[in-house]
Amino acid sequence: MEALEAIGEGPDSWNTMMLLYNAALKEINTKVEILIDEFQHVHRYNPIEYVKSRIKSPESIVAKLKRYGYEPTIHNMVQYCNDISGIRIVCAFTSDIYRIVESIQRQNDLRILQVKDYISKPKESGYKSYHLLVSVPIFLSDRVVDTKVEIQIRTIAMDFWASLEHKIYYKFEGKAPAYISRDLRECADFVSMLDAKMLSLNEAIQAAKKVNEE
Ligand code: GTP
Ligand code: MG
Repeated sequence: MEALEAIGEGPDSWNTMMLLYNAALKEINTKVEILIDEFQHVHRYNPIEYVKSRIKSPESIVAKLKRYGYEPTIHNMVQYCNDISGIRIVCAFTSDIYRIVESIQRQNDLRILQVKDYISKPKESGYKSYHLLVSVPIFLSDRVVDTKVEIQIRTIAMDFWASLEHKIYYKFEGKAPAYISRDLRECADFVSMLDAKMLSLNEAIQAAKKVNEE
């Protein structure tokens, strides 16, 4: 297994790096599609509402390294930018999040590099999501290269909150007025309440369905 950090510099290395991150994203997307198919087939239930994936733009990669105080070398990109490949899995209920996390953690061709549970421990901003940083082996013609993908798993309500907060953050270049940050944190509490309420409603529906079937 080769480490991507040994990639070298120059246009050829850049292209190889992008090829690897694209390939890694395809691998994870396929894994998620298979999970969806299997859940549908076995449980007649699909825990995933939608999936979004993207490759980070060169401008954003460079801006992130600059923010961290690193030179924009390919080596630093590979080493310090963990979200060049990113996939976001959006579910209806918080219980679905943990189901998906477990299914991913059981796949032993993936290496789990980092786990951040911002659901049990939300960020100061109010941000909630479950983050997994994984590495996927990519099989090239002459070698295997471990490549990182950031997986974010959250509910629809958490996703709604995060996308609005992201827009506001950009609008104010990270320095939103205090009342806006306060309102956002308040909204984050509403999100948690909504998620909890929707989950218990769904459990009640499932229980009623079971009684009907018996
Ligand atoms: P960066 O925040 O990406 O520099 O990396 P990090 O090492 O701090 O990782 P973290 O897990 O905190 O964040 C990774 C990603 O989660 C970010 O790039 C965002 O997509 C998302 N994220 C983290 N915090 C927030 C937040 O407060 N608001 C929103 N909207 N998204 C967040
Ligand atoms: Mg961060």
